[in-house]
Amino acid sequence: MQTEHNIIIGNSQQMPELADASVHLMVTSPPYPMIQMWDDQFCKMDSRIAELWKELEADCREETVTRIYDAMHENLARVWREAHRVLVDGGIACINVGDATRTVNGKFRLFPNHARIIEHCERAGFTTLPYILWKKPTTKPKYKGKGAFLGSGFLPPNAYVTLDCEFILIFRKGNLRRFARNDTVRHGSKFTKKQRDAWFTQIWTVTGTRQTTSQLERRTAAFPEEIAARLISMFSVRGDTVLDPFLGSGTTAKAAAQNERNSVGYEIDESLLPLIKSNLDDLGKNADLIVSNREP
Ligand SMILES: C[S@@+](CC[C@H](N)C(=O)[O-])C[C@H]1O[C@@H](n2cnc3c(N)ncnc32)[C@H](O)[C@@H]1O
Repeated sequence: MQTEHNIIIGNSQQMPELADASVHLMVTSPPYPMIQMWDDQFCKMDSRIAELWKELEADCREETVTRIYDAMHENLARVWREAHRVLVDGGIACINVGDATRTVNGKFRLFPNHARIIEHCERAGFTTLPYILWKKPTTKPKYKGKGAFLGSGFLPPNAYVTLDCEFILIFRKGNLRRFARNDTVRHGSKFTKKQRDAWFTQIWTVTGTRQTTSQLERRTAAFPEEIAARLISMFSVRGDTVLDPFLGSGTTAKAAAQNERNSVGYEIDESLLPLIKSNLDDLGKNADLIVSNREP
């Protein structure tokens, strides 16, 4: 099946290129609020966040930390609201996110990103469905939030549980998608019993993270192709359109093409375009790639 993959270099807080109810599934992973590697991007996107970080240096108030965290999630929520607009009735949204632990203002704490995103998505009109915990290869437990558990870490009570799971949150817009009883496309998109048993379970231990070869690739914090491919096979049918508003290295677009779905991906960082193109290069003649840059 011939598929089309639109890459739009621009901010997905507005998706004017997409009509209401024009995509069937969203599979994405946003920059994670309060994970240091994404601080600069949140500051560039919203100057209010940069000002709040400066304010925190001066006032050292917990309330300012909360305002930074709120503002980061408000930026993501704009995308969730746009996603709700462009999804069809019955369309599914899958969001991979990790919580963050961080010492800010001298205090170590958890920033439960998954809970904030659920709240914002519900406010955007989505219905929350049971989510998946993606169990990642374990890193060592932390002592007082820093480095590895040392000898003293065997003593209670000041050690912390390691965050070794990420969330794959799942939402639906509106009602169940309707198909004719013998819809051939739906039947042609069927998964096997073995796949169903492995996929529709709450804990996934997918380890097949792509070998990251370049600095650029590491910067996108790509999820494994297996994650995108599973979600696409679980929640869409052949010929559907899959949206990733935080495209990064292009994993979702590649998995969509490999599974005979069309895709639309937004990426704000233009310097990732060569990486996205090279990841989509080996798809062959059946996948048409269309790149547009919204900025002048
Ligand atoms: C966690 S990465 C996504 C990684 C991706 N799943 C992959 O496998 O490569 C988040 C990406 O979203 C991009 N981004 C952040 N905010 C954006 C926005 N408002 N619009 C478009 N892209 C954005 C970042 O530049 C980054 O590449």
